[in-house]
Amino acid sequence: MNVADIGKKAGDGRCEKTPGTVYLVGAGPGDADLLTVRAHRLIEQAEVLVYDRLVAEEILELSSQSAVRVFVGKSPSRHTLPQEEINSLLVRLASSGRNVVRLKGGDPFIFGRGGEEAEELARAGIPFEVVPGITAASGCLAGLGIPLTHRGVATGARFVTGHCREGVPLELNWKSLADPETTLVIYMGLSNIAIMTEQLAAAGLSPETPALAVSSGTTPRQKTCRGTLATLPEDVERDGLTAPVLIVIGQVVEAAERSGISQVLVERAVKEAVPSA
Ligand SMILES: C[S@@+](CC[C@H](N)C(=O)[O-])C[C@H]1O[C@@H](n2cnc3c(N)ncnc32)[C@H](O)[C@@H]1O
Repeated sequence: MNVADIGKKAGDGRCEKTPGTVYLVGAGPGDADLLTVRAHRLIEQAEVLVYDRLVAEEILELSSQSAVRVFVGKSPSRHTLPQEEINSLLVRLASSGRNVVRLKGGDPFIFGRGGEEAEELARAGIPFEVVPGITAASGCLAGLGIPLTHRGVATGARFVTGHCREGVPLELNWKSLADPETTLVIYMGLSNIAIMTEQLAAAGLSPETPALAVSSGTTPRQKTCRGTLATLPEDVERDGLTAPVLIVIGQVVEAAERSGISQVLVERAVKEAVPSA
């Protein structure tokens, strides 16, 4: 179905004055078992699913045969909609009386632009509900046996974006991020990884700080790359990690290895022994 027609076609007898509800649902980091019970139930009952690129096929398959699925995510090879059009599509669909599940990777309110969609729905008087999801940082790290915070190692964790608009410099408070007692998690940082690691080192973070990149965490395609603040950009390139990639910088990466709870080295050993694994 043509995305532009959905909702417009919906002069189908439904009462325009009773809008449907839009559920902004977090789909978690990839593994369908990491969906919340509420997300699972809403997906099964959905009339319309509006979903992003990072939502796994396995999760979409939980929806009924009759559900209309609308792909709006960003991918180089597939049609995508600008954010403003996604916002108005949601308003249009709900205004036609449909209940809509807006499915987003991870958590809708963590680098998911869920806040913008909620604002637009509120402005249009459309009822909505936010269903949290497991964000990539906690999903990927839990799966790898690395605590985001750990007593005596990391007193906190910070989530930042490494993405900036083309031609616009990445403006982060590097001094405050260069904190050896905090775990730094960078979302969407693959293309700016060299700039970010250089800036953190220039702001005083030791080049020896343990660092890790994980691509497609929690899925069968998961790949990890372990290095240090100084080596990670080259390590990631050498190992050919591709998006989605999460970057983790902090002592928790090494502490988990020391205590034997990290799965990163285990995973690497398996890959070396069985290259096709
Ligand atoms: C637009 S943000 C969406 C984040 C999402 N709302 C969340 O809470 O996880 C996309 C970025 O999240 C990270 N990401 C999401 N899923 C991931 C996964 N399974 N493995 C690694 N990184 C992931 C990557 O940094 C990716 O570029």
